[in-house]
Amino acid sequence: MRKKIVAGNWKMNLDYSEGISLFSEIINMVRDEKNGDQIAVICSPFIHLNSLSQLSAGIVKIGAQNCHQKEHGAYTGEISAKMVKSTGCEYVIIGHSERRQYFAESDSLLAEKTTIALQNNLTPLFCIGETLDERNNGSYYQVLESQLENGVFGLSAEDFSKVVLAYEPVWAIGTGLTATPEQAQDIHAFIRAKIDAKYGMNVADNTSILYGGSCNPKNAAELFAQHDIDGGLIGGASLKSRDFVDIVKTFN
Ligand code: G3P
Repeated sequence: MRKKIVAGNWKMNLDYSEGISLFSEIINMVRDEKNGDQIAVICSPFIHLNSLSQLSAGIVKIGAQNCHQKEHGAYTGEISAKMVKSTGCEYVIIGHSERRQYFAESDSLLAEKTTIALQNNLTPLFCIGETLDERNNGSYYQVLESQLENGVFGLSAEDFSKVVLAYEPVWAIGTGLTATPEQAQDIHAFIRAKIDAKYGMNVADNTSILYGGSCNPKNAAELFAQHDIDGGLIGGASLKSRDFVDIVKTFN
């Protein structure tokens, strides 16, 4: 049975005290209001990871937003997967479109990051998604297939089974222009079919595929009701405790 997951991506927001304060609100609300087996995750900036892990008591899982592709060494300013794991983190976002765009993270680099995350017992939240141009010119299926093929399809079936995928159309991120449930379901079904072709139906059926891109309490229910959508990767709405927990409660 594939897991239902709602993960918040705080991106580069919240200083130390703001992060603790928001997370404390979220913890209390999730503890009191979540009544299903869905998993709530907060992926915070590195500065918060250990504090949130200590506060969470397992009620909300913790994730990082990136990790370096090497185990350790002379990489000033970088954070290794081993360091992330040592904070109590369980998840790590890999391949977010903002890192692909602003930091030129290639598919091959992201494949390395995914491998080292798995080697350090982190669950990768591996992101794929097309740009507006690719949506408009009709090349999005090829783009998504290439991101899968070159990013995660080099993994063994056993390792791939540990990966959570997130489909985040770049044109929906931070724009308020959410993919329609039909658009999102079409792509999620396409992704699942590609996983089936590569690894078989058992792996495909058990892979969680999250949607991200202007998901909010008003549209989450219709999106998450789609057969192949297993939850969300939430940006802006995760910075408001009420909104984020209302999205988590969609699975109650
Ligand atoms: O990683 C999730 C993020 O890219 C979506 O952002 O603000 O459109 O929910 P937002």
